[in-house]
Amino acid sequence: MILAVETSCDDTCAAVVTDAGELRSNVVSSQGVHARFGGVVPEIASRHHLELVNAVIDDALDRAGATLDDVERVAVTQGPGLVGALLVGVATAKALAAARRLPLVPVDHLHGHVAANFLAPDPFEPPFTCLIASGGHTMLTRVHDHAGYELLGQTLDDAAGEAFDKGARLLGLGYPGGPALSKLATTGDRAAFDFPTAARVGGLDFSFAGLKTALLYKVRELGEEETARRAADLAASYEHAIVTALITRIERALDGDGDPRLAIGGGVAANRLLRERAANLGVPVHIPPPELCTDNAAMIASAARYVDAVAFPGYLDVDAYAHAL
Ligand code: KG4
Ligand code: ZN
Repeated sequence: MILAVETSCDDTCAAVVTDAGELRSNVVSSQGVHARFGGVVPEIASRHHLELVNAVIDDALDRAGATLDDVERVAVTQGPGLVGALLVGVATAKALAAARRLPLVPVDHLHGHVAANFLAPDPFEPPFTCLIASGGHTMLTRVHDHAGYELLGQTLDDAAGEAFDKGARLLGLGYPGGPALSKLATTGDRAAFDFPTAARVGGLDFSFAGLKTALLYKVRELGEEETARRAADLAASYEHAIVTALITRIERALDGDGDPRLAIGGGVAANRLLRERAANLGVPVHIPPPELCTDNAAMIASAARYVDAVAFPGYLDVDAYAHAL
């Protein structure tokens, strides 16, 4: 059994997964203290991880009906993410592993999002194209095998989830406002406003900063009252622009692929319009269940099955990294 720990952002996560990719437990403790600041405060996230991590690991073991005696490898997210938050997980995992002389598996967070697709009972096998879109990252990858991924494109500025959240804030929908914006959009007209989708910009990279600015200018131009009156149309047009930007690049990546198949992960995978438009691409689409799309430790354990473990004491100097390698 693999015990995995994930603390890259504001969720404290631990999971127990078997070598066959069966989930024995998957515990996520969301900190919920960041909403009042309108975003994740790194220092507060680190402190909360410190308070929560041991209880979350105990809970994951309990729910799996396991003890540390059953654990053969300890996996942990090494990066990318908030470095102070990551360090709490890395130090905890090292200590757990070292006390029992167990091997440690340092895992890349984004490989984890990809590897969520490999978990039982419905594993999606490579090769496939994979979009990971969350509040922290937006990238398009080609997954040739279980051990990693090839980066095809990524955001040059804001992440897709961040674009949803910033748009939601401009429309007064709170934080994180992606789901609220998407809900409001269902009652609006997506053709009401013409927001930039960067569809004519070639390549497989994403850019959402211009879109956010376009909404900001539109909201200023309309004024408070008119913005409130037309909020649903604004939300629908804005969501349409984000999803079109994502789908356009997915189509490009799939084009020319002999056996086109698509997986989607990250919090934005919950988006109704994205799911609808992906389903209409005419290729097999795999989206893990929501709790495996948002940050979790089961996906880290899943990736760890395909990453070389480091034997004791070789991992004692393993360090967290903030940015993608
Ligand atoms: O993966 P996640 O839970 O956390 C990280 O950012 O790592 O993703 C959360 C992001 C937020 O930006 C949230 O607004 C967005 O995913 N999100 C959505 C929806 N559900 C979550 N965005 C659009 N539509 C949704 N239904
Ligand atoms: Zn993530």
